[in-house]
Amino acid sequence: MFDDVAPKYDVVNDVLSMGQTRRWRKVVVDAMEVTKGQHVLDLAAGTGTSSEPYADAGIEVVACDFSLGMLKVGKRRRPDINFVAGDATNLPFADNSFDASTISFGLRNVNEPKKALAEMLRVTKPGGKLVIAEFSQPVVPLWRTMYTEYLMRALPAIAVKVASNPDAYVYLAESIRAWPDQDHLAAWLQEAGWEKVTYRNLTGGIVAIHRATKPAESGAAGSPNGAAAAIAANKGPVAKLRRNIVR
Ligand SMILES: C[S@@+](CC[C@H](N)C(=O)[O-])C[C@H]1O[C@@H](n2cnc3c(N)ncnc32)[C@H](O)[C@@H]1O
Repeated sequence: MFDDVAPKYDVVNDVLSMGQTRRWRKVVVDAMEVTKGQHVLDLAAGTGTSSEPYADAGIEVVACDFSLGMLKVGKRRRPDINFVAGDATNLPFADNSFDASTISFGLRNVNEPKKALAEMLRVTKPGGKLVIAEFSQPVVPLWRTMYTEYLMRALPAIAVKVASNPDAYVYLAESIRAWPDQDHLAAWLQEAGWEKVTYRNLTGGIVAIHRATKPAESGAAGSPNGAAAAIAANKGPVAKLRRNIVR
């Protein structure tokens, strides 16, 4: 499906998000707090739009995606970026390879998102950061109703006019509705072994930016026992919330 939408992916995104994606992407880059000389993994990078700000700032970014169609469009557009074909659930990188990892509007598309969270933990250095941008749940009820109407009615109608594969946008709307809310995703992060999990809502919760850190202690890095220890040690509000979540 992503191979089919690749040629017009970025233009269509801008239209359907009413120009909001640029602002959302800036918040992600600021949250990463990476500097020149550091190595960043941008997972499910697609055509590399989410990777560009790092490359532009002289930060070494690896744009990884499993859609060759997306990677081809990206490489043509930005030959200077290192595009790598790879599956988020079985990353082709050694343990502790990156100073920070990020995934924008991609985790929802991965078949086994919890596996991807574990893989990102494995390839990130101890003490390194993870930033996730993903569609989420608007927090104010009236805004939630209006947004749901937009998603289920207006968006597919606009997609018919501007997109080469409108069915992909029906999938987009349905996958957003089925995706866990902010607290639930935060609990998944803790479960995978990430610590200091926080999130920030953008555009009233249409998008949430989750931030987390890989535990610095040796032993916690990417091992199942370490992950369990990290969850047990986490006493924050999200850790409390986990106990009330039925999976
Ligand atoms: C909506 S695009 C996001 C692209 C980019 N990050 C952005 O912000 O524009 C989602 C991407 O996730 C990729 N994807 C889905 N499942 C994947 C997986 N298991 N491994 C790697 N990439 C995956 C798709 O190929 C697609 O390019």
